[in-house]
Amino acid sequence: MTTERLPWIAEDPASLRLLELAPKVAAAPTTLLITGESGTGKDHLARLIHELGPRRDAPYLKIDCASLPPQLVESELFGHERGAFTGAVERKLGRLELGGNGTIVLDEVAALSPNAQSKLLRVLQERAFERLGGTGTLHLEARIIALTNVDLPAAVKAGSFREDLYFRLNVVTLTVPPLRERRADILPLAEHLLVALRSAHGRPRAQLSDAARRMLAAYAWPGNVRELRNALERAVVFSGVDRGTTPADADVLEPENFPETVRAAAPGAASPVAGLRSLEDAEREVIAATLEATHYQISRSAEILGISRKTLLEKRKKYGLK
Ligand SMILES: Nc1ncnc2c1ncn2[C@@H]1O[C@H](COP(=O)(O)OP(=O)(O)OP(=O)(O)O)[C@@H](O)[C@H]1O
Ligand SMILES: [Mg+2]
Repeated sequence: MTTERLPWIAEDPASLRLLELAPKVAAAPTTLLITGESGTGKDHLARLIHELGPRRDAPYLKIDCASLPPQLVESELFGHERGAFTGAVERKLGRLELGGNGTIVLDEVAALSPNAQSKLLRVLQERAFERLGGTGTLHLEARIIALTNVDLPAAVKAGSFREDLYFRLNVVTLTVPPLRERRADILPLAEHLLVALRSAHGRPRAQLSDAARRMLAAYAWPGNVRELRNALERAVVFSGVDRGTTPADADVLEPENFPETVRAAAPGAASPVAGLRSLEDAEREVIAATLEATHYQISRSAEILGISRKTLLEKRKKYGLK
């Protein structure tokens, strides 16, 4: 399932639920917090919410709180007057001002310095701020979306994040689940990501082999969607090396074209922890093997596995099996 403007691939119930919430959240002006592990799609969801809402034609500005030095974060956010600090040779408008009626995304909000945290708190409380070195009070019209892959309640406990700011940000929170908790998304996402990679690499016919699909669906993806994208890109690049030997119409990505980490986790791959795996992985493997052995006859497979057809179909979808 996708939306018209920005594709948000969702097949798993967990991500379909997010897609269902997105338009409601988009319609409200409330400050939004998006949490989730690295690479799950927090940025992507923030952008989707911007595009689904009434601010879609206003600016969408992002500021990366983790990669900029503290003073630069503040000047990026609030802007500064000429002479506010060494190097401030001209007045500069900050994102809060430039964002107008749009959306301002604070990426990695937990990385804000204590000083920036207290200034942001005031912005959220009073919807007012000043440029650095300035005296005139400006009003915030934009909507703030904060992103984090950090456990903010834990950061509050540890004293690195202000509790009052956390409460202000945590009005509405959306959590993007890790890919391993929405396995039915893996293959649809892979197909979606492949579309862009095909054209970027001039490989219009690149496609996954059945074995590669089984491997991708079985892997845990600790780096989530970003890791999936990188793994696919690597496979596209490496499968191209000896393309001279394959017929022009066959351009198949095989398990061996994928990174070692992904291959090691493939069903049946020898690994130092072979035999030690989760019940889910084992179930997935048994179901995959049964389907294959019966040439994908659902009734026959269900009978052998001792489960109903309905349960088998659900599990087949959950594990992204053919
Ligand atoms: N549901 C989805 N549909 C389509 N593309 C997606 C989806 N989720 C993530 N992506 C793509 O995966 C990549 C990683 O997503 P994104 O940058 O939003 O992750 P993130 O959670 O912000 O990661 P980080 O914490 O590392 O900043 C992007 O290229 C994004 O477009
Ligand atoms: Mg991000």
